[in-house]
Amino acid sequence: MSKILILPGDGIGEEVTKQCLKILDYLNAETNYNFEYKKGLFGGASIDDCGKPLSNEVLDLAMESDAVLLGAVGGPKWEALDHDLKPEKGLLTLRKELGTFANLRPGKVFPALSNASSLKSEVLKGTDIFVVRELTGGIYFGEPRYSKIIDKKRVASNPLIYNEDEIARVAHEAFKISLKRNKKVTSLDKANVLEVMQLWRDVVTEVHEKYYKDEVELEHLYIDNAAMQVIKRPSTFDVILASNLFGDIISDEVAELTGSLGMLPSASTGNKKGIYEPVHGSAPDIAGKNIANPIAAILSLGMMFKYSFNEDKISDLIDHSISEVLNAGNRTQDIAKENDVTLSCDEMGDVILEEIKKSESNFI
Ligand code: IPM
Ligand code: MG
Repeated sequence: MSKILILPGDGIGEEVTKQCLKILDYLNAETNYNFEYKKGLFGGASIDDCGKPLSNEVLDLAMESDAVLLGAVGGPKWEALDHDLKPEKGLLTLRKELGTFANLRPGKVFPALSNASSLKSEVLKGTDIFVVRELTGGIYFGEPRYSKIIDKKRVASNPLIYNEDEIARVAHEAFKISLKRNKKVTSLDKANVLEVMQLWRDVVTEVHEKYYKDEVELEHLYIDNAAMQVIKRPSTFDVILASNLFGDIISDEVAELTGSLGMLPSASTGNKKGIYEPVHGSAPDIAGKNIANPIAAILSLGMMFKYSFNEDKISDLIDHSISEVLNAGNRTQDIAKENDVTLSCDEMGDVILEEIKKSESNFI
């Protein structure tokens, strides 16, 4: 039986993962599938409980699970804490410990939402971008990291270091994903200024030359130019490959193309186990109000079925049901236009579940 660990975390994390649980409960009760799940405290919720954003017990549970479904971490309550004690540190440790070096963030524009983005719908037409972000290296983990007083001045450091193996393995992921899509990879760097980014460009080029040259087109863009091109010609991108920090930034930009950060799911994969989480954060300003968009979380659940359990049918069923629900005009406040009636987070979860029940026989 597949084991899932659910870590709702903070802010809207609880509300949006609750909608995923409804779907898991339904699959367990009404189909031949059986997924065992446990819940744990994570991020600020865990700090409040035991002083640490990721307790040893929860890390052990994650290690024993086949996959982890995450909500979101962080909030103003914990912002003043030292970096090592912040909710975000729990997330970074979890990614590192589970070895999830490739973070997959598909930014597909649902046709029903082509008016929800701040970009013109003719510019967006056909946009389907898949960001592959390096997740366990780079500036997020560079040593020595510190913040201290040197010669009476505050000085802080976070070095950006990559070795060639870390770059090559995530590049392979991006090329392999592009083979199942439109066979184009755009790699982002800052090779005009940084040695480490020249290494990034060199290694990506070598991996391409050696294994994928005949099938995949490779484009290199400097990150500053890429930030512009993504909004200028979004439909010309297929797979975007980026380092940890550049991928973090560009994926929020891609999210806006899809209409809302509330629409973007992610899968963090690597050696074996996967972490699945919506790209949006904990959104403290709307937490507890039952108005968050649960779609990114539910799409992340769909990615879990696909990447951790090879259950493409359930994943397709979830994607299909979300498209249908959007086509029928259902909107949470973040993707609504002026005269739309908006659904609460719970209501959106319910209509998606109803659609899953209706469409199920066509998929599983
Ligand atoms: C993300 C988030 C995280 C990151 C934060 C919450 C640590 O922004 O997953 O994109 O920077 O990786
Ligand atoms: Mg981010």
